[in-house]
Amino acid sequence: MAKINFKRLTDELCQKKKGHSFQLFSINIYQRDILMSQETRSVIISSFEEMQDGYFKSSTTSSYTGDVEGMGAMHNLDIFEELIKEIEISVLEYLRSFSKMSDKLQVYHQKSWPVFLKSGTSVDSHHHSNSDLSAVYYFDVPEGSGGELIFYSPIDLGLPSNSTGVDFWKNKFCVNGIKPYTGLLVIFPSSIKHEVRKYTGKKQRVSFSFDFTLTASTDLGSGQIENLPPSINHWRAFQT
Ligand SMILES: [Fe+2]
Repeated sequence: MAKINFKRLTDELCQKKKGHSFQLFSINIYQRDILMSQETRSVIISSFEEMQDGYFKSSTTSSYTGDVEGMGAMHNLDIFEELIKEIEISVLEYLRSFSKMSDKLQVYHQKSWPVFLKSGTSVDSHHHSNSDLSAVYYFDVPEGSGGELIFYSPIDLGLPSNSTGVDFWKNKFCVNGIKPYTGLLVIFPSSIKHEVRKYTGKKQRVSFSFDFTLTASTDLGSGQIENLPPSINHWRAFQT
Protein backbone atom coordinates (compact mmCIF):
# COMPACT_ATOMS: atom_id res chain seq x y z
CA MET A 1 0.00 0.00 0.00
CA ALA A 2 1.28 3.50 -0.79
CA LYS A 3 2.74 5.36 2.17
CA ILE A 4 0.88 8.57 2.95
CA ASN A 5 3.00 11.54 3.87
CA PHE A 6 0.83 12.73 6.76
CA LYS A 7 3.40 15.20 8.06
CA ARG A 8 3.60 16.95 4.73
CA LEU A 9 -0.17 17.18 4.44
CA THR A 10 -0.46 18.41 8.03
CA ASP A 11 2.19 21.04 7.43
CA GLU A 12 0.34 22.21 4.38
CA LEU A 13 -2.91 22.45 6.32
CA CYS A 14 -1.17 24.55 9.00
CA GLN A 15 -0.22 27.03 6.31
CA LYS A 16 -3.67 27.11 4.81
CA LYS A 17 -4.38 30.65 5.96
CA LYS A 18 -1.61 31.88 3.66
CA GLY A 19 -3.43 30.46 0.66
CA HIS A 20 -1.04 28.60 -1.60
CA SER A 21 -1.04 25.51 -3.79
CA PHE A 22 1.43 22.64 -3.93
CA GLN A 23 2.15 19.70 -6.17
CA LEU A 24 0.71 16.47 -4.79
CA PHE A 25 1.42 13.99 -7.59
CA SER A 26 4.27 13.81 -10.07
CA ILE A 27 5.77 11.34 -12.54
CA ASN A 28 9.45 10.54 -12.80
CA ILE A 29 10.97 10.63 -16.29
CA TYR A 30 14.70 9.94 -16.72
CA GLN A 31 17.05 11.46 -19.29
CA ARG A 32 20.71 10.84 -19.92
CA ASP A 33 23.19 11.13 -22.78
CA ILE A 34 24.98 7.94 -23.83
CA LEU A 35 27.67 8.46 -26.42
CA MET A 36 28.69 5.21 -28.09
CA SER A 37 32.13 4.67 -29.59
CA GLN A 38 32.38 5.22 -33.33
CA GLU A 39 33.62 1.66 -33.75
CA THR A 40 30.52 0.19 -32.09
CA ARG A 41 28.24 2.51 -34.02
CA SER A 42 29.75 1.38 -37.31
CA VAL A 43 29.22 -2.30 -36.47
CA ILE A 44 25.58 -1.66 -35.57
CA ILE A 45 24.95 0.44 -38.68
CA SER A 46 26.36 -2.19 -41.03
CA SER A 47 24.38 -4.94 -39.30
CA PHE A 48 21.17 -3.01 -39.92
CA GLU A 49 21.77 -2.32 -43.58
CA GLU A 50 20.96 -5.82 -44.79
CA MET A 51 17.88 -6.05 -42.60
CA GLN A 52 16.53 -2.71 -43.79
CA ASP A 53 17.19 -3.52 -47.43
CA GLY A 54 14.89 -6.50 -47.21
CA TYR A 55 12.17 -4.58 -45.41
CA PHE A 56 12.13 -1.43 -47.49
CA LYS A 57 12.04 -3.42 -50.73
CA SER A 58 8.65 -4.75 -49.63
CA SER A 59 7.38 -1.58 -47.94
CA THR A 60 8.35 1.80 -49.31
CA THR A 61 5.99 3.98 -47.28
CA SER A 62 5.89 2.76 -43.68
CA SER A 63 8.53 2.97 -40.99
CA TYR A 64 10.21 -0.15 -39.64
CA THR A 65 9.45 -1.29 -36.09
CA GLY A 66 11.43 -4.38 -35.16
CA ASP A 67 9.01 -5.64 -32.51
CA VAL A 68 6.60 -6.79 -35.21
CA GLU A 69 9.25 -7.80 -37.73
CA GLY A 70 11.01 -10.51 -35.74
CA MET A 71 13.60 -8.16 -34.25
CA GLY A 72 12.33 -7.78 -30.69
CA ALA A 73 15.24 -9.03 -28.57
CA MET A 74 18.16 -6.76 -29.38
CA HIS A 75 19.35 -7.16 -25.78
CA ASN A 76 20.53 -10.68 -26.62
CA LEU A 77 22.80 -9.56 -29.46
CA ASP A 78 26.51 -9.09 -28.79
CA ILE A 79 26.75 -5.91 -30.87
CA PHE A 80 24.50 -4.10 -28.37
CA GLU A 81 26.41 -5.20 -25.27
CA GLU A 82 28.07 -1.80 -24.72
CA LEU A 83 24.77 0.07 -24.99
CA ILE A 84 22.81 -2.48 -22.94
CA LYS A 85 25.26 -2.15 -20.05
CA GLU A 86 24.81 1.64 -19.94
CA ILE A 87 21.04 1.26 -20.17
CA GLU A 88 21.01 -1.17 -17.24
CA ILE A 89 23.03 1.32 -15.16
CA SER A 90 20.55 4.05 -16.13
CA VAL A 91 17.43 2.02 -15.30
CA LEU A 92 18.81 1.18 -11.85
CA GLU A 93 19.72 4.83 -11.27
CA TYR A 94 16.20 5.82 -12.34
CA LEU A 95 14.66 3.33 -9.91
CA ARG A 96 16.88 4.52 -7.06
CA SER A 97 15.80 8.12 -7.71
CA PHE A 98 12.30 7.42 -6.40
CA SER A 99 12.42 4.03 -4.64
CA LYS A 100 14.23 2.94 -1.51
CA MET A 101 13.61 -0.73 -2.32
CA SER A 102 15.38 -0.97 -5.66
CA ASP A 103 17.84 -3.49 -4.17
CA LYS A 104 14.89 -5.84 -3.64
CA LEU A 105 14.03 -5.84 -7.33
CA GLN A 106 15.18 -7.86 -10.30
CA VAL A 107 14.85 -6.03 -13.60
CA TYR A 108 14.52 -7.99 -16.84
CA HIS A 109 15.00 -7.02 -20.44
CA GLN A 110 11.71 -8.14 -21.92
CA LYS A 111 11.64 -6.62 -25.40
CA SER A 112 13.96 -4.32 -27.31
CA TRP A 113 13.68 -3.35 -30.94
CA PRO A 114 14.92 -0.87 -33.53
CA VAL A 115 12.67 1.77 -35.07
CA PHE A 116 13.57 3.32 -38.41
CA LEU A 117 11.37 6.36 -38.77
CA LYS A 118 10.87 7.61 -42.30
CA SER A 119 10.41 11.29 -43.02
CA GLY A 120 6.74 12.23 -42.98
CA THR A 121 5.74 9.49 -40.56
CA SER A 122 4.70 9.53 -36.90
CA VAL A 123 3.72 7.09 -34.15
CA ASP A 124 0.18 7.30 -32.76
CA SER A 125 -0.43 7.62 -29.03
CA HIS A 126 -0.08 4.38 -27.12
CA HIS A 127 1.28 2.83 -23.97
CA HIS A 128 3.20 -0.41 -23.40
CA SER A 129 0.78 -2.67 -21.51
CA ASN A 130 3.24 -5.58 -21.55
CA SER A 131 5.87 -4.06 -19.27
CA ASP A 132 6.63 -1.92 -16.21
CA LEU A 133 9.28 0.45 -17.53
CA SER A 134 10.13 1.51 -21.06
CA ALA A 135 12.97 3.42 -22.67
CA VAL A 136 14.03 4.89 -25.97
CA TYR A 137 17.58 5.50 -27.12
CA TYR A 138 18.09 7.84 -30.04
CA PHE A 139 20.85 6.23 -32.05
CA ASP A 140 20.79 8.57 -35.04
CA VAL A 141 18.71 11.74 -35.20
CA PRO A 142 19.44 13.55 -38.47
CA GLU A 143 18.94 17.28 -38.72
CA GLY A 144 15.35 18.22 -39.29
CA SER A 145 12.25 19.12 -37.41
CA GLY A 146 9.49 17.17 -35.73
CA GLY A 147 9.66 13.70 -34.21
CA GLU A 148 9.21 14.97 -30.64
CA LEU A 149 8.40 12.41 -27.95
CA ILE A 150 5.14 13.53 -26.36
CA PHE A 151 3.94 12.33 -22.96
CA TYR A 152 0.28 12.65 -21.97
CA SER A 153 -0.52 13.52 -18.39
CA PRO A 154 -2.44 10.70 -16.66
CA ILE A 155 -4.08 13.26 -14.37
CA ASP A 156 -7.78 13.66 -15.15
CA LEU A 157 -8.54 16.83 -17.00
CA GLY A 158 -10.51 19.50 -15.23
CA LEU A 159 -8.00 19.38 -12.40
CA PRO A 160 -5.30 22.02 -12.11
CA SER A 161 -1.90 20.53 -12.77
CA ASN A 162 1.68 21.62 -13.39
CA SER A 163 1.66 20.36 -16.98
CA THR A 164 2.62 22.97 -19.51
CA GLY A 165 -0.05 24.26 -21.83
CA VAL A 166 -2.89 23.14 -19.59
CA ASP A 167 -6.26 24.78 -19.97
CA PHE A 168 -8.49 23.06 -17.48
CA TRP A 169 -11.65 24.86 -18.56
CA LYS A 170 -11.66 22.99 -21.85
CA ASN A 171 -11.44 19.31 -22.52
CA LYS A 172 -7.82 19.33 -23.67
CA PHE A 173 -5.07 16.80 -23.20
CA CYS A 174 -2.14 17.90 -21.05
CA VAL A 175 1.13 17.00 -22.71
CA ASN A 176 4.84 17.51 -22.29
CA GLY A 177 7.37 16.96 -25.05
CA ILE A 178 11.01 16.00 -25.40
CA LYS A 179 13.02 17.00 -28.46
CA PRO A 180 15.25 14.03 -29.34
CA TYR A 181 18.88 14.24 -30.36
CA THR A 182 21.56 11.65 -31.10
CA GLY A 183 22.73 9.94 -27.91
CA LEU A 184 19.68 10.77 -25.76
CA LEU A 185 18.21 8.05 -23.54
CA VAL A 186 14.72 8.52 -22.03
CA ILE A 187 13.24 6.13 -19.46
CA PHE A 188 9.59 6.31 -18.40
CA PRO A 189 6.78 4.25 -16.87
CA SER A 190 5.34 1.90 -19.52
CA SER A 191 1.81 2.88 -18.50
CA ILE A 192 2.16 6.53 -19.47
CA LYS A 193 0.58 7.33 -22.83
CA HIS A 194 3.00 8.73 -25.40
CA GLU A 195 3.36 9.39 -29.10
CA VAL A 196 5.89 10.55 -31.67
CA ARG A 197 5.02 13.69 -33.58
CA LYS A 198 5.47 13.76 -37.35
CA TYR A 199 9.14 13.51 -38.25
CA THR A 200 10.29 15.60 -41.21
CA GLY A 201 14.05 15.06 -41.31
CA LYS A 202 15.76 14.44 -44.65
CA LYS A 203 17.10 11.00 -43.65
CA GLN A 204 15.42 8.24 -41.69
CA ARG A 205 15.77 8.43 -37.90
CA VAL A 206 17.04 5.42 -35.97
CA SER A 207 16.02 4.77 -32.37
CA PHE A 208 15.92 1.72 -30.12
CA SER A 209 12.97 0.95 -27.86
CA PHE A 210 13.13 -1.11 -24.68
CA ASP A 211 10.58 -2.72 -22.37
CA PHE A 212 11.56 -3.91 -18.89
CA THR A 213 9.72 -6.10 -16.37
CA LEU A 214 10.24 -5.88 -12.62
CA THR A 215 9.99 -8.80 -10.22
CA ALA A 216 11.10 -9.36 -6.65
CA SER A 217 14.74 -10.41 -6.44
CA THR A 218 15.57 -14.10 -6.26
CA ASP A 219 16.85 -13.67 -2.68
CA LEU A 220 13.37 -12.80 -1.46
CA GLY A 221 11.96 -16.24 -2.18
CA SER A 222 8.43 -16.91 -3.32
CA GLY A 223 6.52 -14.23 -1.45
CA GLN A 224 7.90 -11.17 0.30
CA ILE A 225 6.70 -8.10 -1.56
CA GLU A 226 3.08 -7.29 -2.19
CA ASN A 227 2.08 -6.21 -5.70
CA LEU A 228 5.28 -7.47 -7.31
CA PRO A 229 5.58 -10.80 -9.10
CA PRO A 230 8.03 -13.13 -7.35
CA SER A 231 11.27 -14.04 -9.12
CA ILE A 232 10.69 -16.06 -12.30
CA ASN A 233 12.64 -18.86 -10.60
CA HIS A 234 9.37 -19.59 -8.81
CA TRP A 235 7.18 -19.51 -11.89
CA ARG A 236 6.01 -22.63 -13.65
CA ALA A 237 4.74 -22.95 -17.18
CA PHE A 238 1.47 -24.85 -17.73
CA GLN A 239 2.23 -28.50 -18.45
CA THR A 240 -1.10 -29.08 -20.13
FE1 LIG B 1 6.16 3.52 -27.28
